[in-house]
Amino acid sequence: MREDLLRGGGLLFTDSNVFALYRTQIEKYLGGVPVYVMQAGEAHKNEQTLFALLRAMSENGLRRNSTLIALGGGVVGDIGGLAASLYMRGISCVQVPTTLLAQTDSSVGGKTAIDFCGVKNLVGAFKQPERVLADPVFFETLPKREIRCGLGEIVKHGALCSAIFEKLWENRDRLFDLGFLGEIVPMNIAFKASIVRQDPYERSLRASLNLGHTTAHAIELSSSLSHGECVLLGLILEGKIAERRLGRDGEYGKLLDELCLRALGSMPKFELSEETALCALHDKKNRAEGKVRLTLSRSLGTFEFLELPFGEYVKELKEVGSC
Ligand code: NAD
Ligand code: GLY
Repeated sequence: MREDLLRGGGLLFTDSNVFALYRTQIEKYLGGVPVYVMQAGEAHKNEQTLFALLRAMSENGLRRNSTLIALGGGVVGDIGGLAASLYMRGISCVQVPTTLLAQTDSSVGGKTAIDFCGVKNLVGAFKQPERVLADPVFFETLPKREIRCGLGEIVKHGALCSAIFEKLWENRDRLFDLGFLGEIVPMNIAFKASIVRQDPYERSLRASLNLGHTTAHAIELSSSLSHGECVLLGLILEGKIAERRLGRDGEYGKLLDELCLRALGSMPKFELSEETALCALHDKKNRAEGKVRLTLSRSLGTFEFLELPFGEYVKELKEVGSC
């Protein structure tokens, strides 16, 4: 595999935590391949890291037929994919996702990005990976908090896909169990891949995957919570807005909230401040000046968009924020 992957030369891109945990294996399987290690964390998903990586690719002589291997969570995957799309106008990228979130969501579908000017994923490109190598062995070193983050996107997929929802509900007492995750990960990859195949550039159907994400991104930018935790909060809060504005199916809403709360463990401390609302106003998914665009789900497996004038969104957030 090593020769196959790196026929034209290549570089392994990873983060400081993954490198510390898997250094021996990297040396064993990819010895001799240059490695660029970024500081772990969303705070480093920025232009400095992107350009430092591009520099490392150039200094290591990567060519048009070279391969960038992105070994890590969604942060590494998003930056690595973007660098691969930019370098020489595009070289091959192999994604090796090491978090639950990255295996079930971010490594599938070719969205790449960095955060820029205080907006999540403002600068990015669509760049389908050459391959995605997802191995559940990586979950053995994942802290519980990172499993929770992955469950955020998995529960979101559940809201859109009844088979995943049923599987989650049947297994609600063992959401963190590695055996259960081994069963649910392939279902999530297949579901996400089917959406991406139908709408790779998010012209319509793929936007369903933004469920809960406008408020999630806003909380993520204005708190110290992780992306997946914010997705669970976004699903709960925007779910309440769907209840108030669209008359969401009550039974479905109750079960979805219960799954979110079980994944969260307990409600994390967070504040819905003016800054949170402003982050939502600057979200890149918005289409009209002064309006916040939400992707909501009225019943299991459905989605629709609601555009709220900023003032109304703030009012809704205040009302549902105390839930
Ligand atoms: P992350 O990449 O920051 O990883 C979370 C933490 O886990 C990091 O500290 C990392 O070092 C550590 N880690 C990674 N693998 C590990 C392992 N096997 N064992 C122990 N620790 C490990 O975060 P994430 O939750 O994987 O991804 C979140 C990012 O993904 C966000 O930036 C989000 O915007 C992005 N995202 C992108 C898409 C997409 O379609 N491209 C979809 C969803 C999320
Ligand atoms: N994570 C949303 C998407 O890939 O479209």
